[in-house]
Amino acid sequence: MGTILCNGQILVDGKLVKKDILIEGTNVSRIADSIEEAGHEVLDAAGKLIVPGFIDMHVHLREPGFEAKETIATGTASAARGGFTTVACMPNTRPVIDTPETVRLILQKAKEEGSARVLPMGAITVRELGQELTDMAALKEAGVIAVSDDGVGVQSSKMMKDAMKVATSLGLPVVAHCEDDSLVEGGCVHEGVFSEKHGLKGIPSEAESIHVGRDILLAEATGAHYHVCHISTAESVRLVREAKQRGVRVTAEVCPHHLLLCDEDIPGPDANYKMNPPLRSRRDRQALLQGLKDGTIDMIVTDHAPHTAEEKGRGIELAPFGIVGLETAFPLLYTKLVLTGEFTLQEIVDRMTRVPAEVFNLPWGALEEGKSADIAVIDLETEKEVNPETFASKGRNTPFTGWKLKGWPVLTMLEGRIVWQAEEMNSEGARQ
Ligand code: DOR
Ligand code: ZN
Ligand code: ZN
Repeated sequence: MGTILCNGQILVDGKLVKKDILIEGTNVSRIADSIEEAGHEVLDAAGKLIVPGFIDMHVHLREPGFEAKETIATGTASAARGGFTTVACMPNTRPVIDTPETVRLILQKAKEEGSARVLPMGAITVRELGQELTDMAALKEAGVIAVSDDGVGVQSSKMMKDAMKVATSLGLPVVAHCEDDSLVEGGCVHEGVFSEKHGLKGIPSEAESIHVGRDILLAEATGAHYHVCHISTAESVRLVREAKQRGVRVTAEVCPHHLLLCDEDIPGPDANYKMNPPLRSRRDRQALLQGLKDGTIDMIVTDHAPHTAEEKGRGIELAPFGIVGLETAFPLLYTKLVLTGEFTLQEIVDRMTRVPAEVFNLPWGALEEGKSADIAVIDLETEKEVNPETFASKGRNTPFTGWKLKGWPVLTMLEGRIVWQAEEMNSEGARQ
């Protein structure tokens, strides 16, 4: 017996078209105007949007080592609630994902307890200390899909160049958290109007863009696929745009919080507005929107970074960087960028499905007959307030509490298995 998702709307060349979808086993077996076949479970998706499950190439699942913040089970449950079926997890765990054993442990846990597909990223340097390259061949063999020292920048140009050479010989993208430590020196927010007003140490834009510029030159020299993490400044966008025009193999990602907030929006010294890179200036935010629009920025990721309430309660200077993002990403983007007319629904969905799949050469991200049934069903009508108490994530650290949003995922399917289902999406039983 299969499942028919009936009367939902799918995106076809930017238009919403009503279709029935038959899922049998792990795959989508048919998409048609109407599927009347008897013997299948029927789920009524009338009026709902049906999209390929979202792909998030930047998530912190925290396991192993930081299970008080998140686990593979809770992090992937959070992904499923957000409509994500594939998440790439960052290696700044304890131990760092710098050995095949840790890669295998994560893949095993994800298989046993996961509500989303987990793609591990391996570290660039041992323990992310920037001193010695990891055995990338062994990491790749164990299953990493890219290498990254996310959480910290690779400070040495030589180390980064060597990393690019090895990664390129193995066909692994180099995914870079861009941050020059010598320019950061204990900053906790963007160096700008907010840091000045509150007398806080700021993180200047160049701390990021200097690495972006350096690494573009290194990617050009080595032929590496260089991917910029959570791009946040106008200068970084300009550098990526120019590099793309010159044919350098560079791609970039941006987070919903950097698209929707700037430092002027921070109400006060609240650690739920503290992330790295920080919320930048109004001008930077505009450049990010423009960069996403014109294709300079390829994809949207969350940088889901859960922390405990105790950690986030230490005040803006002492609290760790990071906010959760999986459960609010699509509703935020839909409400604040699509309903406002700045982006089309197709543009936003593409940057969360087809594009990350293409950039990282993944076989998911499309809703097509014969492909894996990775599906998100989304209610575009019901408005709900963001309430962190309802999150599946252990993390409650979000600046979006109380925001009224539309576009909430109500059902998520991973390889044909329902991994999240809101009450309103209960089955009507099998069709006779
Ligand atoms: O905000 C952030 N949180 N930025 C990072 O680079 C690391 C991440 C984390 O691991 O908490
Ligand atoms: Zn980072
Ligand atoms: Zn990160």
